[in-house]
Amino acid sequence: MNGRYCIRLCRIFIILLTISILFLWLIPLIKFYFNNEKINIIVFDENFLDNHLYPPPWYISNWTINDYFIRKDNIKKLEDKDAINKKQKIIIEYDFLNQKKNKKTNYTILEYTTVFNAPKFCGKSQDFIFGKQCPYQNCRYTCNRNFSSFADVLLMHRSDINFNQLPIERNPEQIWLYWHDEPGGVQKQAISYQFNWTISYRFNAEVNIGAYGLTILRNKPLSSKEFNSYINQQFNNRQSNAIWFVSNCKSKARINYYKQLYLYYPLIKVYGHCIVQNKTNHCHRHSQCEFSELSKNKFYLAFESQSCRDYITEKFWRSLAYGIIPIVFGPHNKQSIEKIAPPNSFIYTGDFISVSKLANYLNEISRNRTLFKEYHQWRRFYEVLYRPEDIEHYRFCELCYRLNTNQNRIYYQNLNTFFLEEC
Ligand SMILES: *[C@@H]1O[C@H](CO)[C@@H](O)[C@H](O)[C@H]1NC(C)=O
Ligand SMILES: *[C@@H]1O[C@H](CO)[C@@H](O)[C@H](O)[C@H]1NC(C)=O
Ligand SMILES: *[C@@H]1O[C@H](CO)[C@@H](O)[C@H](O)[C@H]1NC(C)=O
Ligand SMILES: *[C@@H]1O[C@H](CO)[C@@H](O)[C@H](O)[C@H]1NC(C)=O
Ligand SMILES: *[C@@H]1O[C@H](CO)[C@@H](O)[C@H](O)[C@H]1NC(C)=O
Ligand SMILES: *[C@@H]1O[C@H](CO)[C@@H](O)[C@H](O)[C@H]1NC(C)=O
Repeated sequence: MNGRYCIRLCRIFIILLTISILFLWLIPLIKFYFNNEKINIIVFDENFLDNHLYPPPWYISNWTINDYFIRKDNIKKLEDKDAINKKQKIIIEYDFLNQKKNKKTNYTILEYTTVFNAPKFCGKSQDFIFGKQCPYQNCRYTCNRNFSSFADVLLMHRSDINFNQLPIERNPEQIWLYWHDEPGGVQKQAISYQFNWTISYRFNAEVNIGAYGLTILRNKPLSSKEFNSYINQQFNNRQSNAIWFVSNCKSKARINYYKQLYLYYPLIKVYGHCIVQNKTNHCHRHSQCEFSELSKNKFYLAFESQSCRDYITEKFWRSLAYGIIPIVFGPHNKQSIEKIAPPNSFIYTGDFISVSKLANYLNEISRNRTLFKEYHQWRRFYEVLYRPEDIEHYRFCELCYRLNTNQNRIYYQNLNTFFLEEC
């Protein structure tokens, strides 16, 4: 072997080395690029900005709770038009030219009835009720009925109203606020009282943000690495079961759907007395056992016994919070859910032409990590809140926002048809 040959070889070696050094570091970059591409596809749905009430797009970092309110108002205006046409609501626009109304410096909200037979916020602090972050800090809350003639708002909870004890004289400036969180209609008498506002799950209720759950931006997105290790752990450790807690046996449609699904996807664990799969195996709602089931399985049947327009229960939110994929049953409310749930966070039975197709899809997700990951991608940017102590103050902040910004006179012509929509 002569020296010249060696030099040539060394040169080639050095060139190869340089090339590999130059390009090797590109690999993670390329990977990063493609990973992000994937996120774009999922989180940047083209209609994302138009038809979602929340969450905010993850790239908007200066989003505040006030943006939620403004966004909701845009949706509310449209839906209120519909409610007016259906003779559910009457809205009398404030006449700015012919009237001068003194802007109030503060508003008093009176808890006029109990809430499920117990005082709700009596004696609680301002921060607790309206939230520290609330941009409107001029609302006062009281439970002292001595204020009932001059309070700006009388708050009355659906099942606690004693119609014999309502004020006889009605001050037209005062807002009677009807609190209704369960799907379904109202008492007959309630209709004739023409309540002014509602606090409920309906998006065009005067107060609703955070009913049962809320999707918010994380303070800091999870890195790809953190997220991947979360996915690996979840995918490997969770079993492929779908869990169902069912205590109301009346709704036949969902029980029939379950029975069909079970034929194709026998990995469904049911708890509750309607369907007894295993007599010795008990698990109660809100127990340690439920928590454990939510933490070790991949799917959750979020089948409601009754669904009305915009109604999404705490079950849905809780399952998301526990890292399980909810399967939502129902012909009506996919769009309602999409408006406020994290993007691509749930499976909708109505998207499948047959039960067997859904079963195949569940099998696929159970086997395919990439597909499984798609349903959790949102977790990089968002988290969900569902416990009353975490979300209620958003609603009362919205109430305070509305007191500060609404000039119109509003009242419900027919509360019952309003709440019975799409039930
Ligand atoms: C948030 O940031 C965007 C873009 O930087 C800007 O246009 C918008 O005015 C900001 N909003 C607020 C409330 O600061
Ligand atoms: C609340 O408003 C009333 C009248 O609008 C005023 O008399 C009172 O001082 C205000 N209270 C506070 C704490 O700002
Ligand atoms: C309400 O007013 C009555 C009569 O003025 C008074 O006796 C009572 O102590 C007041 N109640 C409260 C809780 O302030
Ligand atoms: C029923 O549940 C018990 C307790 O969890 C379990 O030990 C048993 O194997 C189950 N039986 C069947 C048939 O799944
Ligand atoms: C897993 O799912 C992804 C995303 O839907 C798909 O592109 C891929 O082909 C699937 N892999 C297998 C082995 O089926
Ligand atoms: C509240 O509703 C009544 C109808 O029962 C109406 O006369 C009044 O103007 C409404 N008040 C406000 C502030 O919207």
